[in-house]
Amino acid sequence: MVRPRMIAHRGASALAPENTPAAILTALELGAEWVETDVHLTRDNHLVCIHDASLDRTTNGSGSVRDLDLAEIKRLDAGSWFYHSGAKAPWERGWLRVPTLSEVLDLTRGRATLLIHLKRPDLYADLEQRLLDGLREAGVLDGSDAERDVTLQSFSVGSLRLLALLAPRIPRIQLILPDSDAVTARALDAVARYTQGVAPCQTSVTPEFVAAAHDCGLTVSPYTVNAPCEMRRLIRAGVDGIITDNPVELSIARGAGAAIRR
Ligand code: G3P
Repeated sequence: MVRPRMIAHRGASALAPENTPAAILTALELGAEWVETDVHLTRDNHLVCIHDASLDRTTNGSGSVRDLDLAEIKRLDAGSWFYHSGAKAPWERGWLRVPTLSEVLDLTRGRATLLIHLKRPDLYADLEQRLLDGLREAGVLDGSDAERDVTLQSFSVGSLRLLALLAPRIPRIQLILPDSDAVTARALDAVARYTQGVAPCQTSVTPEFVAAAHDCGLTVSPYTVNAPCEMRRLIRAGVDGIITDNPVELSIARGAGAAIRR
């Protein structure tokens, strides 16, 4: 049985407010080998890490990310919503802001691979090129560790194909919706021409699916897996990574897998 890599979804988002530096650092401290985040573009074309195109759900601001400048977004509180009943956040305010991609890379480089989700390439002109420019400015694309530092993922086939042309060295993962045709073995063969892995919904993953993906040379990293019994099922199925909100539960499940093997 393979020990799947731990991929902390939006950081350790069950334990700290998603995509904030607090969630990223928590994931790293808990041993995540990979940290997943989402990128959007501000009005002044800065890459920021936030899941939604809107600021409403995870900050005390409102409106679209693309309608505000970075300085305005930086003033927002992206963490207090997480702490219910008026409990005081156990982090200083700087750790609970919307981070730039560069700030997140400063935390993850040398410690974990950053899995960057191009969430809404349809909303932004040239998001792929702007992302690669941002990675280059952060020193990622010029270094020999580029492949270890970042991997890119999207539901958009067009984005991934473009990234394969623009930056073939940076690994890519095709996200797959639960009802997608890509879950057939034939489609996996096509996906393998422009990515190194697939991230299917956990409910799509069986041992047969994993074997078919591996036959095509693709890794399998299902999302978003938080139930311990499901983690154990997927470990037995032979997945290569597990995207989870809760690194603690996955640590326990991976440990249980080791115990079962003994
Ligand atoms: O890793 C991404 C996967 O969880 C699906 O995307 O939008 O639910 O974070 P999302």
